[in-house]
Amino acid sequence: MEALVNTAKKLLIHSFGRNSYEEACNSLKRCVEGLTPEELCILESDPNLNNKYINFVNVVDSPSFAISVFVIPTGLKLPLHDHVGMTVITKVLWGELDVDSFDFIEQDKFVCHHMGGDGLQYPPFTMRAGDCHLFYPFRENLHEFKARKRCAIVDFMWPPYNPAEDRDCHYFISQPNPDSSRKNIDNAKVVYLKRIPCPPSFYTQSIPYGGRRPFLSF
Ligand SMILES: [Fe+2]
Repeated sequence: MEALVNTAKKLLIHSFGRNSYEEACNSLKRCVEGLTPEELCILESDPNLNNKYINFVNVVDSPSFAISVFVIPTGLKLPLHDHVGMTVITKVLWGELDVDSFDFIEQDKFVCHHMGGDGLQYPPFTMRAGDCHLFYPFRENLHEFKARKRCAIVDFMWPPYNPAEDRDCHYFISQPNPDSSRKNIDNAKVVYLKRIPCPPSFYTQSIPYGGRRPFLSF
């Protein structure tokens, strides 16, 4: 955690050196890969975790980046949502997670994030304990996470959600798109991503972070 926060401060806030976006992604991903359930105090056997609902733990919430943990009971899901202009690194701490990811096709993605639009659906994949995945502003920016087995994931994201800077979280459903003249691209299938309000079935219960908070003076 300390390595992750120090690297984030160095690369995302102070921008020491001439690091490219790709180098920042790689360095930060290595740090996220090193996070453990023990240091985040998210153990599978923890009796404080609610097994009926999705548990949410706010670990770090700074103006430049955020670290959050979700514990998802088997069969429940984080509905299809976006991260406008954000990069997200997700690690599975324990359990198994099915991932469906999407992008908008239109050039003006910003409008699509508000209104919906034609999208691409990438092949689904499963993440297991220890797996780490990067979701980019330009690839797999929208995704749905469904717990194949009860699981805990940690998300490192930058910049964080901030509605005041037009980085709110929007929700969608994926629909077939028989009208589109667009062809499937690579392995990705053309769909329509319809904007919806936050699904009423999506409920998270916040629980306090039990680990040591990193030193966050900037
Ligand atoms: Fe997400």
